[in-house]
Amino acid sequence: MNKISIIGAGRVGETAALTLALQEMCPEITLIDIREGAAAGAALDIMQTASHFGFGSRVTGGTDPALLQDAELVVVTAGSPRKPGMSRSDVLGVNVAVINSVCDHVLEYAPNALLLMVTNPVDVLTWHAWKRTGWERNRIFGQAGVLDASRMACFIAEETGLSVRDIHTMVIGGHGDHMVPLTRFSTVNGVPATTFMDEATIERVNERTRHGGAEVLALRQVSSAYNAPAAAIATMADAICHDRRRVLPCVCNLDGEYGYWDMTAGVPAILGRNGIEQVVELPLDENEQAGFDASIDSIRADLDSL
Ligand code: 2OP
Repeated sequence: MNKISIIGAGRVGETAALTLALQEMCPEITLIDIREGAAAGAALDIMQTASHFGFGSRVTGGTDPALLQDAELVVVTAGSPRKPGMSRSDVLGVNVAVINSVCDHVLEYAPNALLLMVTNPVDVLTWHAWKRTGWERNRIFGQAGVLDASRMACFIAEETGLSVRDIHTMVIGGHGDHMVPLTRFSTVNGVPATTFMDEATIERVNERTRHGGAEVLALRQVSSAYNAPAAAIATMADAICHDRRRVLPCVCNLDGEYGYWDMTAGVPAILGRNGIEQVVELPLDENEQAGFDASIDSIRADLDSL
């Protein structure tokens, strides 16, 4: 892959650009933001780290949507972030307008790209971008599960004292308070995670996972999380750029999977050079399916308000 563009040079977009450059994900990375100087300044700052870190990727930034020209992957982080006490749905109205203009620019300058949505509420906005572009569903997907699963892994490591490197977790559903951490599908190098945690510990881990973003925001007050979201973007970009066909929880447009059509939610999927290569259907038990259904209901409530 030659070029990745990131729309939105807030903390998530800027940190993602730095992370992609550090990993030399591709030769060209562009950062676009409507705020005069924000993206250009971030790009210049990142380029001035290149001699320290020794990366060869070139990062440029500006306000001109033409910076999207021929991008193969477009990462969308632009929009209004939530403030302490707000839910992700509270920023839906303002962010729909942002996504409309983002989609129009992408259609003009990068019509063959894959679109990785990050702006919240991500499930609804991924659905909206899918409709607005009219693209095949495999080309438009969102980031949430990769981030939520990394939070779950962090909390399991904290609770058990085991290395986070061995902890593999799965979180499905919407990126909101109704997300569904799947302990039964989480392992410590193949050993069921339930081996190392009692019921109370599992519930603590799941509760912190469901509110992982809010916990960071409540502590920082002036900023949502950005390091973990940027790392999750890099993990997804890596799977795509190197056609790794990793099985990762992604916000996917559903076409019958899990019993839903014309709906968008987090589910495990094979992620590769063509985007979502395949949605993976897990054999959920009754409780897990009920949790997933409740999560879909909350996404549907947002979709109905569009
Ligand atoms: C998070 O969970 C902001 O949704 C983002 O941190």
